[in-house]
Amino acid sequence: MIGRRELPEHFERWNRRWGAPYGKRPRHVLRRQALRFTFPRAVGPFGFQPDNSITRRFEYPWAFHAVPLRAGMRAVEIGGSLAGLQFALASAGVKVVNVDPGERATVGWPVNQASINRLNRAFRTDVELRNCFIEEAGLEAESFDLVYSISTIEHIPVTLLASILGEVNRILKPGGRCVLTVDLFLDLEPFSYETRNITGANIDIQWLVEQSGLDLEQGDPAELYGFPEFDPKGIMGNLFSYQYGTYYPSLAQAFVLVKRA
Ligand SMILES: C[S@@+](CC[C@H](N)C(=O)[O-])C[C@H]1O[C@@H](n2cnc3c(N)ncnc32)[C@H](O)[C@@H]1O
Repeated sequence: MIGRRELPEHFERWNRRWGAPYGKRPRHVLRRQALRFTFPRAVGPFGFQPDNSITRRFEYPWAFHAVPLRAGMRAVEIGGSLAGLQFALASAGVKVVNVDPGERATVGWPVNQASINRLNRAFRTDVELRNCFIEEAGLEAESFDLVYSISTIEHIPVTLLASILGEVNRILKPGGRCVLTVDLFLDLEPFSYETRNITGANIDIQWLVEQSGLDLEQGDPAELYGFPEFDPKGIMGNLFSYQYGTYYPSLAQAFVLVKRA
C-alpha cells in the first residue's frame, strides 16, 4: 500500500501520544531546543533526529501497528538513526537492536552510542545500538521476531541490498515478520526519465521480495513499484489521496514480509 493523507483515528492518537513525527512542539522553537537537553521527555522520542519527510506521520503509526506486539519480542531496526520508533517499540516491551552505521554509510545520518545512551536514559528504555552494517553486527541466526526498516532501503546502493535482505532472512525466526517502508520518488522512473536523485532510487519491490526469500504478507502489489500490477498513471491520478513529501516529492510504500514456518 501507499500511505494515505487521511489517517485512521488510532494512528492520529498514536502520533499525538508520541509527538510523532517531529517531536512535541512547544510554540517557541528556542524553548524546544532548550527542552531537548534539559527535559527530553517533554519533546518525546521523535524530537531528536533532523526533521524528515511528512510521510512519517503515516509510516510510524503504520509500522508500530503492522504486527501485534508482545513484551519480550526481539526486533532489529535497520537504519533506526535517532528516530523515535525504536523507543516506542522498546516502551512496549520489545527488545530492540538498532543497526545503523551512521555516517559510514553512503547516505548516512549521525547516530552513536552516546546519543542512544542519553535517549535510553531519558525514555527509560534499553535499545541496543550496533553502529555498523548488518553483516558486521554479529546477530544470531533465527533469533528475532521482527525486523523494521523505515525509509532506509531506498538510500542504500542497490548492489548492497541482496546481502542485507539475505541477513534479514537469516536472523528472523520462522514466522517472523519484516516491516518495511520504502520511498517512492515522484521525480524518478517510472514517473520521469531519471533513475537516481540526490538521496536514492526507486527500488523494484518485487525484486527486493525475491532477494529476501520471504513472502509478501501485507501490501498491495498495485501500489508497490516493480510488481506487474503497479500502475504509475493510477498512482498519479490518486495523488491527492496519498500523503506526499513536501520537502522532497515522494510517497511511502508500506508492506510486511513473513518468513513462513
Ligand atoms: C533517511 S534515514 C531514516 C532514519 C529513520 N529510520 C527514520 O525513521 O527517519 C536512513 C538511515 O539509514 C541509515 N543507513 C544508511 N545505509 C545503511 C545501511 N547499509 N544499513 C543500515 N542503515 C543504513 C542512515 O545512517 C540513516 O540513519
